[in-house]
Amino acid sequence: MPDLLEVADVHRHFGGLRALNGVNLAIGAGERRAIIGPNGAGKTTLFNVMAGEIAPTSGRIFLDGEDVTRRKPYERSTRGLARTFQKNNLFLGLSVFENVRLAVQRRRGVSFGVVSSANGLSDVNAETLALLDQLDLRTREGAPARELSYGEQRQLEMAIALACRPRLLLLDEPTAGMSPAETASMVDLIKSFSRELTVLIIEHDMDVVFALADRVTVLHYGEVLVEGPPVEVRNNPEVLAVYLGTNPASSLHPGGVPGSP
Ligand SMILES: Nc1ncnc2c1ncn2[C@@H]1O[C@H](COP(=O)(O)OP(=O)(O)OP(=O)(O)O)[C@@H](O)[C@H]1O
Ligand SMILES: [Mg+2]
Repeated sequence: MPDLLEVADVHRHFGGLRALNGVNLAIGAGERRAIIGPNGAGKTTLFNVMAGEIAPTSGRIFLDGEDVTRRKPYERSTRGLARTFQKNNLFLGLSVFENVRLAVQRRRGVSFGVVSSANGLSDVNAETLALLDQLDLRTREGAPARELSYGEQRQLEMAIALACRPRLLLLDEPTAGMSPAETASMVDLIKSFSRELTVLIIEHDMDVVFALADRVTVLHYGEVLVEGPPVEVRNNPEVLAVYLGTNPASSLHPGGVPGSP
């Protein structure tokens, strides 16, 4: 069986800057993989290339064995890829309910033809409410997205991503800016996902990495420095050296926040 996601020798240059410099990754179906690395290592750029928002300068992306390198983001979405953003990407003037309903409609519109019947609409509404329940947003359904707390906005982004019913979910620092309680409930939520969903998570908080990840990939200057189980990565001398310059006290032990500003 092929890996669900394969990144093959991907380079992405921005002028003279090599943001990604020959990255290879293979993510098995059902895996939870954390991507860590200092600020500017290329983590978000890697997600942008995986999702099709930017093209690689060279190299290939395979989704479930299919070469999707030239596929548009919506084509990758219909193949089961969804993501959240490091900076929120919401319709701030629309309500919480409307933000999620749009995502549900978009998926159904793509899969089943444009939804117009009354039955279709009530199904869309029911699915929207179920997602709001899952993300603890039901009491906020009428509020404009701009009135949510930062943590609630991250939850709303997750609801929108799940509305795509993905097989592969890319989460870019989903707990950044959250309170400890919000972080704990986000971790619980991700833990509750079925293993039919494969999860890649860019994360600076090592407690979250240890709680969730089967394997960790460390990016450094656009290259994979080390890859392995969390405990091995934490004790790897090369990885420690990368972080020692910036954060010697906490380095890579749980509770440490490597690479965060
Ligand atoms: N669109 C762009 N144009 C020019 N340079 C870019 C662009 N996007 C990213 N970069 C540069 O590429 C490098 C990698 O950026 P990227 O955002 O992928 O890092 P990151 O690992 O996600 O960092 P952080 O932890 O701060 O989010 C940085 O030097 C960044 O300034
Ligand atoms: Mg980033």
